[in-house]
Amino acid sequence: MLQNEKVCFSGVQPSGNLTIGNYLGAIKNFATFSNDYRCFYCVVDEHAITVRQVPAELRRRTYETLALYIACGVDPEKNTLYVQSHVPAHAELGWVLNCFTMFGELSRMTQFKDKSARHADNVNAGLFTYPTLMAADILLYQTDIVPVGIDQKQHLELTRDIATRFNSVHPDTFTIPEPYIPQTGMKICSLADPTKKMSKSDENPNAVIYILDDRDTIIRKFKRAVTDSGSEVRMGEGKDGINNLITIYSVLTGKSVADIEREFEGRGYGDFKLAVGEVCADALAPVHARFDELMADKAGLEAIMKQGAENASRAAYRTLSKVKKKLGFVI
Ligand code: TRP
Repeated sequence: MLQNEKVCFSGVQPSGNLTIGNYLGAIKNFATFSNDYRCFYCVVDEHAITVRQVPAELRRRTYETLALYIACGVDPEKNTLYVQSHVPAHAELGWVLNCFTMFGELSRMTQFKDKSARHADNVNAGLFTYPTLMAADILLYQTDIVPVGIDQKQHLELTRDIATRFNSVHPDTFTIPEPYIPQTGMKICSLADPTKKMSKSDENPNAVIYILDDRDTIIRKFKRAVTDSGSEVRMGEGKDGINNLITIYSVLTGKSVADIEREFEGRGYGDFKLAVGEVCADALAPVHARFDELMADKAGLEAIMKQGAENASRAAYRTLSKVKKKLGFVI
């Protein structure tokens, strides 16, 4: 590893149900960071248990999530891909950072407030300290940038506050990370309500294209996408449905909006929806093929996880030993 190489870190929840919004807005970027950064992408199983999980499903989704990232182009040779619970340094630093985080700060986190309302019967301490474990994930690797969705911005700000506080007591311990939030132009919206972001937890499966949806499902969902009562394939005010479909088509084909409008001049919404569905299914076909191959070889995925955990541990323990020394632990 180069000494002055910049570090990129992101954590992904073990959910196989990623959407084309996740793919186009985030995962495709993940693959490009490895040209300029040393990248760590971690499947955060320890964060997942802050809400109840079915063990067999959590285990399956951990494999699936890893396989899906690789299938989407995140090369395990160029990136460190691993599972959080395989590197105990995360939980260890998480404890230390709990002692540098204020009760009031955690109480103000909107994700905590939302999740404790949604899981009122299980407002556990892990849910409350979720952000300190996330700070540990990031700070362990002396991370420079963290690609995340806008919903994680508040957690990133807290991470910076915790790191700054620790550094003010024990100078030169942590790099202060910057969030990297993709521009909103790339926002992919729900097919059922195109004023809302496409969300993997949407209750209406027709609103969402999952990366793993099969060809017929993809085409059917696009056919049913909600649009306005007009018929011209043109970007415009109040045409959220068509605007969203044009964005998706443009991102998938690399064509400009003007070119797309010309291509579909006089052809109506039906034709256009079918074209978007076909382009999307074509783009995802190689991802599916690669995913199936990877999932059929559990041992191969385990070897990737193991190698990733070794690489990550080496970097993590450098920071953790420094922290322990600074705190006065006998090491
Ligand atoms: N909280 C993030 C999410 O829900 C997942 C996450 C855990 C994460 N640790 C992280 C993201 C560290 C970025 C960096 O999406």
